[in-house]
Amino acid sequence: MCTLPQVTKKIRTLCKFRCRKFHHSRCGTCRSLLLIKRLARHFQGREPAFTQSIGLSQLPKLPLPSLEQTLAKYEKTMQPLLDEKGKVKLRNLLKEFGEKHGPRLQAYLLEQQKIKQNWAYDYWLNDMYLKNPNALPVNSNPGMVFPPRKFTTILDIARFASRLLVAALDHKEILNRQNLPIERATSREPGQPLCMSQYYRILGSCRIPGEYGDSQYLSPQSSSSSLVNEHVIVICRSQLYCVTVQATDRGRLSEDELCAQILHILDDAPCLNNPPPIGLLTGWKRPLWAEARALLLLDENNRRNLDLISKSLLVICLDEALPPSFNCRLQRGAKGHSAGNRDEANLAAQMLHGGGSSYNSANRWFDKTIQIILSGDGACGLCYEHSTAEGVTVINLMEKLWSYADSKMGENEVPTASVGHLPPPERLEWYLTKEDYLNMEKAAKFLDNLVKDLDFQVFRFNNYGKNFIKSCSVSPDVYVQLALQLAYYRLYGKLTATYESASTRRFALGRVDCIRSASPEALTWVTAMSQLKEDDMLGKKVTFHLVSDEEKLRLWNEAVRQQTREMIDNILGEGIDIHLLGLKEAAKDTSPHANFPLPEIFTDSSYRLANTFLLSTSQVATSGDSFMGYGPVEPNGYGASYNIKGDSIIFCLSAFWSSEITSTSRFAQALEESLNMLQALLTRPQ
Ligand code: COA
Repeated sequence: MCTLPQVTKKIRTLCKFRCRKFHHSRCGTCRSLLLIKRLARHFQGREPAFTQSIGLSQLPKLPLPSLEQTLAKYEKTMQPLLDEKGKVKLRNLLKEFGEKHGPRLQAYLLEQQKIKQNWAYDYWLNDMYLKNPNALPVNSNPGMVFPPRKFTTILDIARFASRLLVAALDHKEILNRQNLPIERATSREPGQPLCMSQYYRILGSCRIPGEYGDSQYLSPQSSSSSLVNEHVIVICRSQLYCVTVQATDRGRLSEDELCAQILHILDDAPCLNNPPPIGLLTGWKRPLWAEARALLLLDENNRRNLDLISKSLLVICLDEALPPSFNCRLQRGAKGHSAGNRDEANLAAQMLHGGGSSYNSANRWFDKTIQIILSGDGACGLCYEHSTAEGVTVINLMEKLWSYADSKMGENEVPTASVGHLPPPERLEWYLTKEDYLNMEKAAKFLDNLVKDLDFQVFRFNNYGKNFIKSCSVSPDVYVQLALQLAYYRLYGKLTATYESASTRRFALGRVDCIRSASPEALTWVTAMSQLKEDDMLGKKVTFHLVSDEEKLRLWNEAVRQQTREMIDNILGEGIDIHLLGLKEAAKDTSPHANFPLPEIFTDSSYRLANTFLLSTSQVATSGDSFMGYGPVEPNGYGASYNIKGDSIIFCLSAFWSSEITSTSRFAQALEESLNMLQALLTRPQ
């Protein structure tokens, strides 16, 4: 089956008008091929082999909420963000949409729901990832930091890496047997089986850049009986090596053999002079990388290299430590891990983007779903490409690999002598033109600016965590979301469109929808919390709260109720964002020609405002002391991930230095104050 870019290319070649966007309404070729494009989009990323093996057909389908429900909720969620004029305009637009276009588009989506495993999957995947032209580092790929290890010699690194690979191969065998235990929801209708398909997409997959949208290489599912060739890519000093980890003629490499292969790389890479920093291209804007990749593909050798990378199980990046001064900043809250004298923000920077072209950014392949990063000074982590899976599944996999490698600590560290017969790993040689080098220079410049612009902060709040919050009979997730609202309000005197990812894995091929935390109830509560009056009393400045604690508590309880409802609605598939996106895409799918205007609710400034998430949040829980963070999704926005532990909360806060209105230091301070204010309110003497 053709991939979407292949179809697109064919359409462009066939179109007699040579229109770049292949939707010339007067051209019959365009019109009929548009249909093919839609079909290709429909089937993109599907692997029929999934359906039976992991019981997708036994999982409920993602619901399609009623039109009335979504429009009413949308109107409500926009109340804190619009002025009076905007509210009236939106009400009228929604009324018109509900009467005119809405019912027809809803009927189309109902039809899609009947014929597809998940009616929203491709709409969402394209909108969230594949059609997003932004560079992957910082903008899309999260970074994860594991507690640093102690690597005394290069043998320690090679041994640890080989154990991670053994665990990855064990895991792959389970996937091949389609035997991964089904996970179940632990709360809100506990026991419901969760869709496991994300796990089957993580290993062996890769994002492929495209001029008009990316695609995904997804590894075909192997059957349990067939032993297939498997390889991984190891990158060291910007040089890529292909390491065979399993071959049809000799089976899996042993841990010792893997260790010897990695030792060879650690030994070989420093001897090479100026390897081309090819990995930098993967950190460029997607359409530019797509063009650069097309050039590389002209050479057969390069074509083979790119194919090997896409099809590899995963990438291991053997890094140099960043200097301690990199991203050096005054961190708020408790001190966490350090490797050498590097702090956690420095470690996180290494995992998110590698530090720029002078450090480890060329030691990456940002398109690859899994990049395990091991640094000479013991810093360890992950950079992962997001389009195949959410953080929760990736974290579960990584923790499994880590715990295996940890359990082997101290066992036979030196490889046995008998491993010498293996051929060394293949160093990937590139055949490059002047233009390729020019592209790498441009990509380096772009990435260095992005790296410099990232304002990133790891804020460990150690005053309390899940235990205290649960003792207040509040959902910890709801609590943290409302604390984030209060922090934002304290800084800006208003709320903003807020995104929180809610897993919809209770449904077949479920990914996420958006919990919108900036509710009218939250606004009323944060306003009450912030109404202060300063007075002069006997020459001393005294601050009064204008709203009583009882009233604040009452408003808090209302905000909690609303936020809990919103969270549950989303995880039960009744969110509004996916539905609105579906209605918008349905309007495109069913329009008589491509220039047909979208219904006004999607072109109005209110829709843009609703989707400008200046606060992009996500709970990323880990079982150990690792954490995951990501960049903001808007130039003036914040990224805020949180990991709620028993007695602490780890926040990763991000923003851009180039923004005149954001600052992670100020946000961390406002957040700390908000969390403390909230505790004081909830524990005040009755
Ligand atoms: N009183 C006391 N305890 C409560 C409570 C209440 N009112 N409400 C919930 N709790 C408890 C729960 O029972 C649970 O207990 P446990 O830790 O013993 O299991 C705990 O508090 C946490 O529950 P809660 O905070 O409500 O929700 P959650 O952990 O289920 O998380 C979401 C909510 C939305 C974050 C989660 O459903 C989700 O979707 N996660 C995926 C997010 C994601 O995709 N992130 C990665 C993006 S890349």
